[in-house]
Amino acid sequence: MKSIVVQQPNTLVIEDRPLPTPAAGEVRVKVKLAGICGSDSHIYRGHNPFAKYPRVIGHEFFGVIDAVGEGVDSARLGQRVSVDPVISCGHCYQCSVGKPNVCASLVVLGVHRDGGFSEYAAVPAKNAKLIPDAISDKHAVMVEPFTIAANVTGHVSPTEQDVALIYGAGPMGLVTVQALKGVYKVKQVIVVDRIEERLAMAERSGADWVINNGNQSLQAVLDEKGIKPTLIVDAACHPTILQEAITLASPGARIVLMGFSSEPSQIVQQGITGKELSIFSSRLNANKFPVVIDWLEKGLIDPDKLITHTFDYKEVKDAIELFEKDQRQCCKVLLTFS
Ligand code: NAI
Ligand code: MN
Ligand code: ZN
Repeated sequence: MKSIVVQQPNTLVIEDRPLPTPAAGEVRVKVKLAGICGSDSHIYRGHNPFAKYPRVIGHEFFGVIDAVGEGVDSARLGQRVSVDPVISCGHCYQCSVGKPNVCASLVVLGVHRDGGFSEYAAVPAKNAKLIPDAISDKHAVMVEPFTIAANVTGHVSPTEQDVALIYGAGPMGLVTVQALKGVYKVKQVIVVDRIEERLAMAERSGADWVINNGNQSLQAVLDEKGIKPTLIVDAACHPTILQEAITLASPGARIVLMGFSSEPSQIVQQGITGKELSIFSSRLNANKFPVVIDWLEKGLIDPDKLITHTFDYKEVKDAIELFEKDQRQCCKVLLTFS
């Protein structure tokens, strides 16, 4: 089989590899579609601190089960599945409190272990999530990015009364906008970014108001309208954003961080405690595949709005380069395997 392998930072090749045999408790997935994410590019460029090389990248993938390992029901053969990339032990403290996404022995497919940019991938059977017939292949491959939004929103239980502010109109900001509008019916969702084309995508994803903070102060724009967001999501992830969010937030508001910056953020505690703000962080997803599959079945979200390009997997280098260079035109770039 062919696999897309990052041999070392900046060296990506399509390699011939032996077809994997699923181990006990695993299934083998014949991959049909995969999605390119920022973290694939970070592993390719050597910017992911968790990655080990060589690595088959890819953690957003969909396909069909074509072999099962010992102890796995053969009725699973032929099932259409999306694969949850989060592999957890099931018994550490974090797993016992519903946070397998930060398991003591966390393994993420495509990061710590070979992933889905491959014609076939062997994965734990319980990570291969059945996709109902009513959900198309293209929607199925988008489950993982939406699980990030399910995880973010799961922390804060948005309501129709909320006034939400999302920093960043990249793929992560846009999935969050769709969840807030489509699932939680939040009254007002405001998106801030510096790139006009991305703000236009945010509007297509349901944002009520978009603000370009490249040429004006976000605080001035919100102050002018007397708006104090009750829910703020940082999907732009610059270390300076936290203090701005604390300043802009309504008393009682919730803030969710998604960034992995290793730079310090300078914050003033009074701004947090004085308004009794709640600050959450969100990493990957904690068993959110069933949640997003349900959203898709009910038509509450529309992944098509995020898919801008599709490439044959053999053109993966061009696909990743386009994804990296063209933030104005690119959102989700898919790879087809057939
Ligand atoms: P992206 O780079 O495509 O999008 C980020 C957007 O934020 C860009 O459109 C950029 O113009 C905008 N931006 C940057 N600084 C800004 C500022 N100060 N104000 C307003 N907008 C600003 O990235 P993507 O894929 O959407 O991911 C966003 C972030 O989320 C990344 O930092 C990534 O590492 C992180 N991430 C976190 C995950 C988690 O589970 N915690 C999962 C996936 C991504
Ligand atoms: Mn992803
Ligand atoms: Zn665990």
